[in-house]
Amino acid sequence: MIRKCLFPVAGYGTRFLPATKSMPKEMMPVVNKPLVQYGVEEAFQAGMTDMAFVTGRGKRAIPDHFDISYELEAQIAGTDKEDRLTDIRHLIQNCTFTYTRQKQMLGLGHAILTGETLIGDQPFGVVLADDLCITDGDGVLAQMVQLYKQFRCTIVAIEEVPAGETDKYGIIKGEEVRDDIYRVETMVEKPAPGEAPSDLAIIGRYILTPDIFDLLRETPVGKGGEIQLTDALMRQAQTGCVMAYRFKGRRFDCGSVDGFVEATNYCYEHLYRKARAPAEVASLVKKG
Ligand code: UTP
Repeated sequence: MIRKCLFPVAGYGTRFLPATKSMPKEMMPVVNKPLVQYGVEEAFQAGMTDMAFVTGRGKRAIPDHFDISYELEAQIAGTDKEDRLTDIRHLIQNCTFTYTRQKQMLGLGHAILTGETLIGDQPFGVVLADDLCITDGDGVLAQMVQLYKQFRCTIVAIEEVPAGETDKYGIIKGEEVRDDIYRVETMVEKPAPGEAPSDLAIIGRYILTPDIFDLLRETPVGKGGEIQLTDALMRQAQTGCVMAYRFKGRRFDCGSVDGFVEATNYCYEHLYRKARAPAEVASLVKKG
């Protein structure tokens, strides 16, 4: 039902300098897969096939990643390395990838408004690929699509954060309609600890209805001199409906060095080693 997913990937990733000087933050690998591929896989699992990227200067590695590399394909054809490309080939074959550039970094709200040309007049998913979400069953976006079917309005993913960290997030407060769902009443961008309306923080997964574009157009420059998505969402909550969903799964803030290292350790243990274990056993058996 929701076909399109928007990936704002234009940010500078200054917390990872010098690594991000010429390489997009979203191409940093967690074990052996770039962050942006985890995000695209999550969107695909949620039924979305049109992947739309808001890019900036120095981000060419992203379109290259979602394209066929003929030399590489020829080089490894018929070798046991070929299966390392299975997942990315599957995405390339089954999805479309479109790109537009955000010419000035005027914030997440501005990046999403820049993506209007790729999205048009329909509800869409948004993934901030530096928030890596790992789940046992359905991915976070797939969980949110289920909710969208019920509520037919904008849905933001939330989680509880320590009281001292509210100034890193948009924080919501609302009426609890189910133990994991709130109807948003208030939303504040990066409130100082002590001034936050709750400890429920918005993370990098959204389902947005297309009226968000008009709201973003009318949103004045806010905190940090940027056009804040949170400000437009607050207007949407006041004039329409925004639901906040406490998702099932684990999120890693891979935009920070600590979160990135934590994600790497977790994915190595729980995804990579687990997936590799049967092959290792088979090769030991073969060696005798
Ligand atoms: P962040 O603030 O986490 O990303 O924005 P950043 O600016 O790249 O990182 P630091 O803080 O300098 O280390 C959240 C998301 O919004 C995108 C970023 O690419 C990231 O995915 N973004 C942010 C844009 O696309 N454009 C912007 O103007 C700002």
